[in-house]
Amino acid sequence: MISGIRGTRDILPDEVGRWRRVERAAVEVCERYGYVEVRTPVIEREELFAKGTGESTDIVQKEMYAFTDKGGERVTLRPEATPSLVRAFVEHGLEQALPFAKLYSLGPMFRYERPQKGRYRQFHQLDVEVFGIADPAVDAEVIEMASAFVAELGLEGAELVINSVGCEACRPAFSAALLAALGERVSDLCGDCRRRADTNPLRIFDCKVPADQPIIDALPHSEDYLCDACRDHFAEVRGHLDAYGLSYRVSHRLVRGLDYYMRTTFEILGAGLGAQNALLGGGRYDGLVRQLGGPDRPGIGFAAGLERLVLALPAGAGDAAPVDAFVVALGGATWAAARVLARDLRRTGLRVLIDYGGRSSKSQMKRANRSGARHMLIVGEDELAAGEVAVKEMETGEQRRVPRDGVASAIANRPAAHDRGRQASQPASENPGVAGDAGTRSVLVD
Ligand code: HAM
Repeated sequence: MISGIRGTRDILPDEVGRWRRVERAAVEVCERYGYVEVRTPVIEREELFAKGTGESTDIVQKEMYAFTDKGGERVTLRPEATPSLVRAFVEHGLEQALPFAKLYSLGPMFRYERPQKGRYRQFHQLDVEVFGIADPAVDAEVIEMASAFVAELGLEGAELVINSVGCEACRPAFSAALLAALGERVSDLCGDCRRRADTNPLRIFDCKVPADQPIIDALPHSEDYLCDACRDHFAEVRGHLDAYGLSYRVSHRLVRGLDYYMRTTFEILGAGLGAQNALLGGGRYDGLVRQLGGPDRPGIGFAAGLERLVLALPAGAGDAAPVDAFVVALGGATWAAARVLARDLRRTGLRVLIDYGGRSSKSQMKRANRSGARHMLIVGEDELAAGEVAVKEMETGEQRRVPRDGVASAIANRPAAHDRGRQASQPASENPGVAGDAGTRSVLVD
C-alpha cells in the first residue's frame, strides 16, 4: 500500500460538504464586494517568490517545494498566492482591463512545514488582493470583508488583531531602535531570532520560543516609531473600522512572516484551534508590484486558510443533502422499468440511487436504509402492470401507491418530516418545484 505524503490530506466525502460551505461563502462574499476571480498555475518560477515573498523569510529559506525542471529551469510549487496574482496583474495588464483591480483566487499552496493540527504541507487558501488604491478606506474595507466572511461561516469567538509596521521611511529607525534595545542580549535569543536580527529585526516579534519572551516583551513598539504619514494612515484605518463597529485589538507584535508588508497588517484568530489559530492574515504591500517589474502601484490583501476554517466550522455545517429516493426493483422485468424511472427522476433534479447486479429486494432495501434516502420507490410486477410505483416515506414508514408520472411531484412535495419545517421558512422560489422544475432543486443542497 502506498500512502499519501506527510502533511497532505485527502478530503473525504464526509468532509466535502464543509469544504463546499466554506468555498461557496468565499465566492459569495468576494463577489458582493466587487472582486473578480483569477486562477493562476500552482507552479511558478522560483525567483517570483524569492523576490516577492522575500529572501529572508522562512518560506523562501526553508519551505519551498523548489526544483530544477527537465528543461533546467528553477521552478517551485507556489507557497502563497500574492506574488502570483501580482505577476498575473502585471503580465495581463489587468489594470486596464478591469474597473477595479480587486482579485480573488482559491486553491492549493505548498510549504514544507512541520505538520500539526491546522498546519499542512499542502493547504488551501482564499486569497484576496486589491491593486492601485492607497486610500486607508480600502484597508478597512478589506478587513471588514475578512470579518464578514468569518461571521458568515458562523465562527464564534474570532478575534481581529491589527498593527502598523511602518514604511521604508520609518522602518530603518525602528529596526535600529530594536537592535539598540537588544544590545548584548541578541546572543541570548534563539537561533532563528539571531538570524532575524541580521536580516529583518522586526521579525523577532514572530518568535514563539518561551525563553525569548521576556527579552521581546521589553522591546520598543513600532507604533512609537511611525512617520507622520504612517501614523495618519493607521489612524484613518482605525477610524473606518470604528465606523463599521468592528472590535479589534492592536498588537505591536503582529509583524507577519512575509517581507513585503508595510503599514497595515492584520489577522483574524479563531477560537479552539490550538497553536495554529490564525484563520487569515494579510496587510498592505505598496512596493511589491514595482519590485516584481510592474508599475508603481500600492496593494493590499489577505489570505484565509481553508483547512482552518473547515476545522472551526460549527457542527452540522455543510452536512450533505439527503438522497431523495432509492429505487428498489422486485426482480425480472421490473429492473428495466426501475432504471428508466430513476433516470427520469434524476432529469427533474432529484437525487436518486438504484442498485446493480440484480440484487435481492432484501439487500436493496438494506442499502436503501443505509443510504439515508428520504423515500424508497418500489417497482414490482403489480405496480408495473398498474402504471404505478409504491412510495415509502422512510421517516414515518408511511407507504402509498402513486401513478408513475406523479412520483417526482409526490416526493418533491412530500419531503421527509424533518425537512418540512425548514422548507416552510424558505421563500417560495426556493421550494423544490414539481417534476421538471430542476433548476430550483440545487438551493436545497446545503
Ligand atoms: P500567511 O499568513 O502566510 O499569508 O497565510 C495566510 C493564512 O493561510 C494563514 O493565516 C493560515 O490560515 C493559512 N496557512 C498558512 N500556512 C498554512 C499551513 N502550512 N497549513 C494550513 N494553513 C496555512 C499569506 O499567505 C499572504 N499571501 C497573505 C496576503 C495576501 N497578504 C496580502 N495579500
